[in-house]
Amino acid sequence: MRMDDDVLKVLVSQEELQAKVAQMGRDISRDYEGKNLLLVSILKGSVVYMADLMRAITIPCKIDFMVVSSYGANTETSGLVKIIKDLDQDLSGKDVLIVEDILDTGVTLSKLKPMLGLRNPASIRIAAILDKPTRRKADIHADYLGFEVPDEFVVGYGLDYDEKYRNLPYVGVLKPEVYQK
Ligand code: IMP
Ligand code: MG
Repeated sequence: MRMDDDVLKVLVSQEELQAKVAQMGRDISRDYEGKNLLLVSILKGSVVYMADLMRAITIPCKIDFMVVSSYGANTETSGLVKIIKDLDQDLSGKDVLIVEDILDTGVTLSKLKPMLGLRNPASIRIAAILDKPTRRKADIHADYLGFEVPDEFVVGYGLDYDEKYRNLPYVGVLKPEVYQK
């Protein structure tokens, strides 16, 4: 069985993702030259983007990972953000760049960003590969942004439906019958 068979349409191709992440890597490398860059990946959705982005960055940086809960197996946000796994590193004096898969309602990052801001970082910004602006509930934006997607549930490039499809190399929409299985 191929995952491709469950995909209704491709929204962002592998080539488009690659080109965009390369450009973001150049922008970040220029903007953070001489700074103390720490990439903070929000697991698990940002794992593919993080792996690509960090290799597109040409200046020294550190990485760390965090697990927060916002979604369950369903596709609606709970509005609650809980830290399941915290960062290992101290943020004081660091130029923190939060690496996220998608800004949807914005609830997760609108709570997480000020929480991390309390730990005395030198700066704190957001990089997101996808954005669903029509869904926004919280006043939050990405400083580095990949692609806008319509108000549809998307999978691939790290994003899941029920923990599956994260390993699709592109961003797509699933066929409706997949949700009935
Ligand atoms: P928020 O609504 O902006 O708080 O989004 C929180 C998280 O929900 C994102 O980081 C994603 O992991 C997940 N999410 C939001 N929209 C989608 C989607 O279309 N597909 C898969 N996961 C999503
Ligand atoms: Mg996520």
